[in-house]
Amino acid sequence: MRLLLGIWLCLGGLAQGARAQSLQAHGGPVRAIAVGPAGLASGGLDQAVIFWSLAGQPRVVSRWHRGAIEALVAVPGGGFVSAGEDGTIAVWPAMGATTPDATLPGHAGPVLALASDGARVAAGGFDGGVRVWSGPGEATLYEGHRGPVTGLAFTPGGLVSAGRDGTLRLWPGGAVLAEHGVPLAALVALGDGVAGGGADGVVRLPDGATLSTGTRPLVALAERDGILAAAGIGGDVGLWDWRAGRLLRVLDGPGLPVWSLGFAPDGTLWSGGADRQLRRWDVATGRPLAETPAMEAALPADADPQGARVFRACQACHALGPQSAAMAGPTLHRLFGRRMGSVPGYAYSDRLAQGDITWTPQTVADLFTRGPDVVTPGTRMPVQTVGNAEDLAALLRFLASATGDDSAGR
Ligand code: HEC
Repeated sequence: MRLLLGIWLCLGGLAQGARAQSLQAHGGPVRAIAVGPAGLASGGLDQAVIFWSLAGQPRVVSRWHRGAIEALVAVPGGGFVSAGEDGTIAVWPAMGATTPDATLPGHAGPVLALASDGARVAAGGFDGGVRVWSGPGEATLYEGHRGPVTGLAFTPGGLVSAGRDGTLRLWPGGAVLAEHGVPLAALVALGDGVAGGGADGVVRLPDGATLSTGTRPLVALAERDGILAAAGIGGDVGLWDWRAGRLLRVLDGPGLPVWSLGFAPDGTLWSGGADRQLRRWDVATGRPLAETPAMEAALPADADPQGARVFRACQACHALGPQSAAMAGPTLHRLFGRRMGSVPGYAYSDRLAQGDITWTPQTVADLFTRGPDVVTPGTRMPVQTVGNAEDLAALLRFLASATGDDSAGR
């Protein structure tokens, strides 16, 4: 299969065949995972937050955010907080929901990091500020980083932030706890302190000791019961006995970037990354654990099978029936013959709202041959092409049959 999709942020996330031990419901790379006592939440470049049971059953898919999800945190005591490209911080109930319980105002620009100690929520991102909310009102703002804030953790001594400027800072006050000298991308609470890591793959432990993970750049860290998991853009996840400074094992992942890690209460580890999948690992053996397959929206029974497979890449964002549902993109119902940007009630970008193209098999083929960014510059649809002529023909056959019927896909 040569469907090229998810080349977002210039990181090729090549669509892969589903594997037995993985869950696939995200339409793009998984950027964030948070595990709570009763379930987990994942967020991706497809703008979706998906809530799962701890056994890996999808419960709720929310497409409420208007941009890629870059950070998620479980709130001690229940619930989750999500944030990302759209700069909006959303608070969710423990079992998930399609719309959040509350939003926290005040952040300007994309959010890259979140933390919560139950009573407070902290967020940081591109604007370099750290904001802390103790309730639904305005946040307290801490400033000091020169550049984006990439990690946050509450510790007994205060709130610690990591930055692309290579420093770890302690708030309030902003005292520099450590200078890594390289951009930091991950931070985790460890014992009474924190460990941070980034571009050089070196994790600095709370006592100043270092672990050279050999994973460069390091992009995610998680810890439970003395085991530190460290993941890098190369796709390898190392498990360390951090007190002894010893590598226990390396998980045999898909060989694509892993962006997110989270330990479950039972000690199993969840990972998510560029292959759009969530995986669950047995930490003691390093083996992937069998999982139930992900939810798949109902497709018409008579759909072209090859086309249905190609359409899986669109399914996270587009419905086929008369209603758009709460999805990132407009429904594709009755697509052929429709003017661009004409689904009532859908908030199109200015480019699509111009409506100067009519969708036909030819114009849709052009859209996914040259790419939405070339055909309709300024569109909010992510950059993607269908690089294989047979896949493209199958997709068009599928769309012709599946978007015409009022009962399709619902
Ligand atoms: C990550 C989400 C996402 C994925 C995946 C995605 N789209 Fe879209 N799509 C959108 C968004 C958002 C828009 C509206 C863009 C705008 O307003 O600029 C859109 C618009 C469209 C339009 C124009 C619709 C109209 O009413 O004018 C078509 C056609 C389309 N997408 C087809 C597809 C197909 C086919 C695929 C799979 C190969 C796909 N999309 C994958 C998000 C997505």
